[in-house]
Amino acid sequence: MAKITASVFTSHVPAIGAALDLGKTQEDYWKPVFQGYEYGKQWMKDNKPDVIFLVFNDHATAFSLDMIPTFAIGTADSYQPADEGWGPRPVPVVQGHAELASHIAQSVIQQDFDLTIVNKMDVDHGLTVPLSLMCGQPPQSDFKWPCPVIPFAVNVVQYPVPSGQRCLNLGKAIRKAVESFDEDLNVHIWGTGGMSHQLQGPRAGLINREWDNAFLDQMIADPEGAAKIPHIDYVREAGSEGIELVMWLIARGAMGDLAGGAAPKVKHRFYHVPASNTAVGHLILEE
Ligand code: DHB
Ligand code: FE
Repeated sequence: MAKITASVFTSHVPAIGAALDLGKTQEDYWKPVFQGYEYGKQWMKDNKPDVIFLVFNDHATAFSLDMIPTFAIGTADSYQPADEGWGPRPVPVVQGHAELASHIAQSVIQQDFDLTIVNKMDVDHGLTVPLSLMCGQPPQSDFKWPCPVIPFAVNVVQYPVPSGQRCLNLGKAIRKAVESFDEDLNVHIWGTGGMSHQLQGPRAGLINREWDNAFLDQMIADPEGAAKIPHIDYVREAGSEGIELVMWLIARGAMGDLAGGAAPKVKHRFYHVPASNTAVGHLILEE
C-alpha cells in the first residue's frame, strides 16, 4: 500500500524563485535563506519520495475571481510552470500522478470533503518555489523534478477561506486515502506558504517572529491546538497573507500521530527574516 512517510513545510516567496533563476543565491541578502535549505536538499536525495502531495495556493494565476475552488486536486499527467507576468520560471514541467490523485479524489470526496477536480492548471510560485528550495535546479542533462507531484490548491486568497480545523481534518482524510492506494508508494506531503507577511495596506511589511515561532512549536507538538486558531488571529498576528499558514495544517493532519501513531521526528527547523516581504519558515517531520 502507499504510505505517507514525511511532511515538509516551507514558505514560497516569489523573489526566492527569482534569486535562484538569476543566480543570486550567494549574494549576502539571499545566502542565509538558501543555507537554511541545504539540509532539506540533501534530505530529499537521501529520502527520495515516489510522489509528493503538494498543498499550495494559487495566486490568481490558474484561478481568478471567475472561479474560486476552496480545495482543488490536480489529476492531470502534467502541469506547466505558469507565466506570472515575466515569463514562466525556467524550471521543469511538473509531472503529475493521475492514478494516485484520482484515487485520493475518490476517497476524500467519499469522506465528505468536496474537492474540485482539475485536469488542466498552470502552477505558479506557490508550487514551483517550494520545489526549487527542496530540490535545487535540476541539471540540463536530466531536466526534471525528482518525482511526480500531485498539486493540491487551497483558496487562501479570496474570502471566505477554509478554517484551520477543516484543513487538519482534510489532512487526516488524505492520509486514509493514501493508505488505501494499492501500490507500494512512498509519499511525502508538503504544506507551503506563510509565514507572517502582509503585502498590502497600512500594515504592509508586517512580520511577527514571536508568533511565527510559537506556530512552529505548535505545528510540531500541538497540531490540534493550532487547528483551533481562528482565521482572524492569523490575519491580526501574521498579516493578511499569513493566512496562507492554514495550508500547513493539511500536511500536518496527514501525519500518523493524529491517527493514533507516535509523534513525528523533527528532522529540521529553520526560520529567517527577511526574504522579500516574508518571514521564511521551514520544517521537516518524519514518521
Ligand atoms: C510575497 C510573498 C508571497 O507569499 C506572495 O505570494 C507574493 C509575494 C513577498 O514576500 O513578496
Ligand atoms: Fe503567497
